[in-house]
Amino acid sequence: MLKDIGKRPFITVGFTAFVLLIPLAVTSPKAMVRKLGRRWQTLHRAIYPIAALAILHFW
Ligand code: HEM
Repeated sequence: MLKDIGKRPFITVGFTAFVLLIPLAVTSPKAMVRKLGRRWQTLHRAIYPIAALAILHFW
């Protein structure tokens, strides 16, 4: 498995993007948006670097 990961670095990029999306998914329900207040936007701006990772993964 480790050799495979070394041979296909795009898998690590996709996996990183996936893991980084989890906190955004968890904080997406309306109740969580209300609870986080202004911090919600700060956290959800992470979508931009994550989207860049997804494009890199696709490329
Ligand atoms: C555990 C995480 C992930 C793994 C293991 C993974 C793995 C893969 C693999 C094996 C492919 C096919 C490569 C090929 O055709 O040779 C692929 C394609 C792709 N992945 Fe991921 N990926 C992951 C996460 C993500 C995430 C989070 C996104 C977007 C947010 C994403 C977007 C894409 C796209 C757009 C393609 C191209 C699909 C196509 O060619 O039809 N992946 N991924």
